[in-house]
Amino acid sequence: MGKQLVSLPSCHSTNDVMAQMSAKNQLHEGAIIITKHQTKGKGQRGNEWNSPAGQNLTFSIFLRPRFLKATQQFELNRMVSLSLLDVVKNFKDESRVFVKWPNDLILNKKKVAGILIENSISQNAISESIVGIGLNVNQTENLLPTATSLQQQFNKEFELEKILLDIVQRLEHYYLIMRSQDFRFIHELYESKLYLKDKVAYYEDGIGKFNGIIRKVYPDGVLEIEDEGGIYKKYQFKEVRLLS
Ligand code: BTN
Repeated sequence: MGKQLVSLPSCHSTNDVMAQMSAKNQLHEGAIIITKHQTKGKGQRGNEWNSPAGQNLTFSIFLRPRFLKATQQFELNRMVSLSLLDVVKNFKDESRVFVKWPNDLILNKKKVAGILIENSISQNAISESIVGIGLNVNQTENLLPTATSLQQQFNKEFELEKILLDIVQRLEHYYLIMRSQDFRFIHELYESKLYLKDKVAYYEDGIGKFNGIIRKVYPDGVLEIEDEGGIYKKYQFKEVRLLS
């Protein structure tokens, strides 16, 4: 990964540039597009992803995971969030780093990274995947109250290139494990680092707000929450959100 590296001073969204280049057959598997500044960064659920120029990592990686079926898309979310987790937990205190379902990285109870994966499906397999990653590294101002950065947490400046390299190495590591169809290891690791697992928290679904406890994530990525009445509810991505 990273042998083909496209570095742009500025662009709308690295995911979008990647989709355009892919449509023109200009990308090899493992290609990375990185920019100092996104003018129209995309987040999950149609949100924007704003990141001040030059301070954080905003990049996309191009994969062709044809060995994954369409029903296995969540394997990519697991793999990418675990890669980020490995890099961040190296800096300090592993016990404060978690993955919030489906794939936010949480450091000290605040979001430090977001992932936007855009897959193309053909013949029931994932023919192409654009993995967009935004990691707050050296930003110290204008962070949302629910967000943080590495510099804010560790009180020092980080080298963006070095962190990018670390992430790419971890991605390669997990990608190879997945390619050998060893999903159990990754499932167990993801579950062990799941934010608020077995803890009471406040959620909102299509019906209303409730206290619940995350019990598990199914292989296909469905989240199971036990509500106050002891009823187990299953959620697809976007069907539930954490309120506090
Ligand atoms: C989220 O909402 O948590 C996902 C954020 C993903 C942001 C990254 S930054 C690089 C890539 N390009 C985009 O437009 N979005 C992703």
